[in-house]
Amino acid sequence: MTKKLNALASGILPFHEPGLDKALQEVIAQGNIQFASQHDQRTTEADLHFICVGTPQRAGSEAADTTYVFSAAKELAKWISKDAVVAGKSTVPVGTALALQQQMSKVAGFEVNLAWNPEFLREGTALEDSLNPDRIVIGTWNEHSAQVLRDVYKSITDTGTPFLELDVPTAELVKVSANAFLATKISFINAMAEIAEVSGADAVALAKAIGYDERIGNKFLRTGIGFGGGCLPKDIRGFMARAEELGVGSAVEFLKDVDAINLRRRDRVVELAKAELGDIANKKVTMLGISFKPDSDDLRDSPALEISQRLVALGARVVVHDPVALDALKTRDASLETEADVFEALRDADLVILGTEWRDYKELDPKQVADVVKVKTVIDGRNVLDVAKWQAAGFKVLALGRNIVNG
Ligand code: UDX
Repeated sequence: MTKKLNALASGILPFHEPGLDKALQEVIAQGNIQFASQHDQRTTEADLHFICVGTPQRAGSEAADTTYVFSAAKELAKWISKDAVVAGKSTVPVGTALALQQQMSKVAGFEVNLAWNPEFLREGTALEDSLNPDRIVIGTWNEHSAQVLRDVYKSITDTGTPFLELDVPTAELVKVSANAFLATKISFINAMAEIAEVSGADAVALAKAIGYDERIGNKFLRTGIGFGGGCLPKDIRGFMARAEELGVGSAVEFLKDVDAINLRRRDRVVELAKAELGDIANKKVTMLGISFKPDSDDLRDSPALEISQRLVALGARVVVHDPVALDALKTRDASLETEADVFEALRDADLVILGTEWRDYKELDPKQVADVVKVKTVIDGRNVLDVAKWQAAGFKVLALGRNIVNG
């Protein structure tokens, strides 16, 4: 077995996800989970298979890379039984399931029961989202596949969770369109932040005011350095690429702007930092939080990571603190210094940037921070700090989309 599988078999996760290690250890102790790197008789005996491999952005292209899904499906097809159902969970370009079904059937020598069953979990709350989802979506080509999936989710749907039985292309599309909508919502409020910055308005107050309209809702309207992670950025790009292939690229062309607005927020922080630091060479910047969101150590497309790297390229010395992501950072980018003690990270800083809204940072006492930094300036990249409190401790507070008057 590979190193990763060995670790998993002893209850050790390769990433940080609250509660998941405990849940894994419980199922190991109950004897309800096994790990293997090769298929064997156990595969043939199984009634249901989930394909959960990643579909990252293809190198040198905007499109999704589906090679892992196809290779997992091909291997599985050599072992599955005729009645077994295969449920794809990976986020794929619409039309992928049909191609997979044909490929698998060819390898297996019979019509494989493929279904699509997208998942909507968020990192940081993955376990809770999986056990108490707001909906379960399946797309199937036959009643047998639908019945197997109804049975497997029964304990969840019995509690009233909506169970949507759709056609396969719609099921594939649900995931990417949901992510495209969420990304659009965030970029909408970040576009308003750009307007606010030149008009003296406050995008945080604006989000609150429009969010009371139930048709708009207040979720996913947090303005700041924007979205990152392994899903939203690559999913909107992959969606555009797929729409282009289908000859309807113009239908989702607006996602280009969604992407561009999102990336411009990173530029804005770099500009603010440059303006504050003046001669940037060898100035110390403390980055509070490096993961793309709190409760995760995922650095994929992290806005805080890109901003840090750009500041280093400009000559700054960036020292990163993060409650869980420092090990992940060390293996990924050695040009960034790491410090596990937050006050040591802040010591003698010329500028503090809040990059990820970990609770630890919201709860920091600005007076204690004021005692250790060299220059009392903070850029709140997530709009979570109590501005009045930080100003009272002597800080100049800069934020995105806000008109903060510093004394
Ligand atoms: C997302 C989807 O929410 C989830 O349904 C899907 O299954 C996978 O992709 P995830 O990437 O884990 O989940 O995180 P999410 O909570 O969506 O946040 C994505 C990014 O948007 C983060 O960088 C977050 O900081 C940012 N964000 C979120 C904002 O900038 N503003 C907001 O209001 C909300």
